[in-house]
Amino acid sequence: MTAVPHTSWAVEPLHKIHDRQTFRCCAPALERYLQSQARQDSDKRVAAIFVLVQPPVAQVLGYYTLSASTIDAKEVPPELARKLPRYPQLPVTLLGRLAVDQQMKGQGMGQFLLMDSLHRCLQAAAGIAAMAVVVDAKDASAAAFYQHFGFIPLNLSASRLFLPMATIATLFD
Ligand SMILES: CC(C)(COP(=O)(O)OP(=O)(O)OC[C@H]1O[C@@H](n2cnc3c(N)ncnc32)[C@H](O)[C@@H]1OP(=O)(O)O)[C@@H](O)C(=O)NCCC(=O)NCCS
Repeated sequence: MTAVPHTSWAVEPLHKIHDRQTFRCCAPALERYLQSQARQDSDKRVAAIFVLVQPPVAQVLGYYTLSASTIDAKEVPPELARKLPRYPQLPVTLLGRLAVDQQMKGQGMGQFLLMDSLHRCLQAAAGIAAMAVVVDAKDASAAAFYQHFGFIPLNLSASRLFLPMATIATLFD
C-alpha cells in the first residue's frame, strides 16, 4: 500500500532556483536530462518541466515533462478507433519523462507526480484538445508502472502506452 502523499509536497514549473544537481535516479539518462538538458528544453519550449519539491527547500525530488504531440490513428487499438473520427493523426499530450529520486522511491511520489501530470493534461485539453496522454516507457519496469495505473499499449510499439482523456476525466470527477 502506497503511503498517503506528504502534505508538504508541491509541484512547480522548473525554475533556476531549483537545485537539480543532487537528483539521483536509477535511470542515468533521466538524471542527466534533468541536470543538463531540462532548462534548455524549457527555454526552447520543446517540453514543459515540472518538479516536485518540499518548500521552502528547493531540492528537486522528482519531475515530469509534457509536450504537445500526435499519434498515428493506426496506433490506436481498434475498439477505441471505431469510436473516433477518421483523421490520420490524432492530438495527444506526451508525458515524455517521469522520475523520482532513488532515495524517495516507494513513498507515493511517483503516483503523486503521475496524477498531477494527468490533471494538468486534462485542464490543458479543455483549451487545446488532446484525446489521450501518451508515455514512452524506457523499459519493462516503467511500462509496468504505467500499466498499474491503467495505461494501454499502443498498437505499433510495446513501449508506447496511452490513457484516453475520457478515462482521465473520470479520475477527477
Ligand atoms: C517508476 C517510478 C516513477 C515509481 O515511483 P515511486 O515513487 O517509487 O512509486 P510510488 O511509491 O508512487 O508507487 C505507486 C504505485 O505504483 C506501484 N509501482 C511503483 N513502481 C512500479 C513498477 N515499476 N511497476 C509496477 N508498479 C509499480 C507501487 O507498487 C504502488 O502501487 P500501490 O499504490 O498499489 O501500492 C520510480 O521508480 C522511478 O523514478 N523509476 C525510474 C524512472 C522511470 O522508470 N520512470 C518511468 C518511465 S520514464
